[in-house]
Amino acid sequence: GNYTGDLRPQVHFSPPQGFMNDPNGMFVDAEGTWHLYYQYNPTSVVAGNQHWGHATSKDLYHWVNQPIALFPPEERVYVFSGSAVLDVNNTSGFFPDQDNGVVAIFTLARYYENGAGPQTQNIAYSRDGGYSFEYYDANPVIDSTSSQFRDPKVIWYEDHWVAVIAYAQEFAVGLFTSPDLKTWTFASNFTRHGLLGAQYECPNLVKMPVRDADGAVIDEKYVMAVSIQPGAPLGGSITEYFLGDFNGTHFTPLDSVTRLTDFAKDNYAAQFFYGVPDGQNQVNLGWASNWQYAQKVPTGNLEGWRSAMTAPRVNYITEAPRIGLVMVDEIYDVSPILDSKLKSETCDGEGRIALDYSSVESGALYIEVNVTNINTTLLTDYSTLNISFASPASGEILQSGFYFGGDTPFFINRGGIKGFDNVFFTDKFSTADVYSSGSSSTLASWSMKAVIDRSIFEVFVDRGFHTGTVVFYPSQPLTALNLASRLPAGASVSVDIWSLKRSWA
Ligand code: FRU
Repeated sequence: GNYTGDLRPQVHFSPPQGFMNDPNGMFVDAEGTWHLYYQYNPTSVVAGNQHWGHATSKDLYHWVNQPIALFPPEERVYVFSGSAVLDVNNTSGFFPDQDNGVVAIFTLARYYENGAGPQTQNIAYSRDGGYSFEYYDANPVIDSTSSQFRDPKVIWYEDHWVAVIAYAQEFAVGLFTSPDLKTWTFASNFTRHGLLGAQYECPNLVKMPVRDADGAVIDEKYVMAVSIQPGAPLGGSITEYFLGDFNGTHFTPLDSVTRLTDFAKDNYAAQFFYGVPDGQNQVNLGWASNWQYAQKVPTGNLEGWRSAMTAPRVNYITEAPRIGLVMVDEIYDVSPILDSKLKSETCDGEGRIALDYSSVESGALYIEVNVTNINTTLLTDYSTLNISFASPASGEILQSGFYFGGDTPFFINRGGIKGFDNVFFTDKFSTADVYSSGSSSTLASWSMKAVIDRSIFEVFVDRGFHTGTVVFYPSQPLTALNLASRLPAGASVSVDIWSLKRSWA
């Protein structure tokens, strides 16, 4: 692949060429190698002809493209989304002499001349650590006559495997159990929860630590994530999640609250990596696009590829003031990609930074802003902290920032980027900062981390309580950062900006 195009992310994964959608089969092996598979059409820049592409990484930022892992087994049968597990105890019997066997479980979607045929669940095994797979000779492992039954995600629970699978148009997640990944028994359904959209896709079930305000683990709960498409509140596709308990066969939500993983539009079908040690924070990444326009974005015509993955994120559950338990979605350790520190400044209330980063080869930046000691009784509608990225050549601008007046939301506005126009390509996103630390006292603190990477912008507000992911397609590279803080005197504003190293050779 050629990773030099002006729109090509430099610290995010994108396919060598062709069209990519959902992350699939993600696991981390005993040597600490992260495996990412993905829905892949290697022969075109639109969806269809689904294979499983494959890439590996030691740090979740530097990826090595690997040979395609799963090919369509016959004509008009495609390899749809699914997951993978490490079968260290050889429950499947595929791995008599090794403890690093990998089993992938995925949907095969059959198409007839005149329409969609059944979607069934199938497995393939790898004896070389996940690089090459053999189809099991007694597939499917879960048969069906439905054309809307897909995306198995498997986890281990005490003494058995558990799969969650979407009955897409019945708005149900089916839970199945198995001793060996080959024989599956229906256990329960999780039906009609949250936003229904037009269908449920790519369910995930994962155990996560619950942490107190100091970060200590005080409990554990399960997260059930469901991707809906189309029908997201902002249009197209989005992922929601539920917090609850799981007893090996049934998931019971704690409450009837629907929570979204992202306040913008470009984070879909995220999957949690299998193999993160029990008790640790989970790790996920999602598809940084939206079915509303994924097949139309200009990278296809201009550079021959479409779609990137989000940055990797760390997940745990914590209590947010007023809201109760939430899943934190915070950027994973960025130290492997940090280059030089371009700015490190602190100001009292009011301040400005203008940074020309046209000499940064990657075009990518990492930014941290921490504001402490905000006297909330002095905040007005004019209290803002704005960060923008512009192209002096084309006049295009991507804006973001805190608007501290009123209900103090954080916003992103991609409406000033004119390189891609589509009726569904929504411009503006915001989130109310209801969980901010210190919001109940007069002295408040606010923080954000952000990554901008040529055509993707991600913000993690308040330690990942609110995450916003947007793609944008400027006609000229953005090279000018402007930051303006207009906060009351006494507020301490600290800003750190790093250039990022290209992760692609
Ligand atoms: C979600 C999805 C899945 C399906 C895959 C096909 O984006 O529609 O339900 O398995 O994409 O590529």
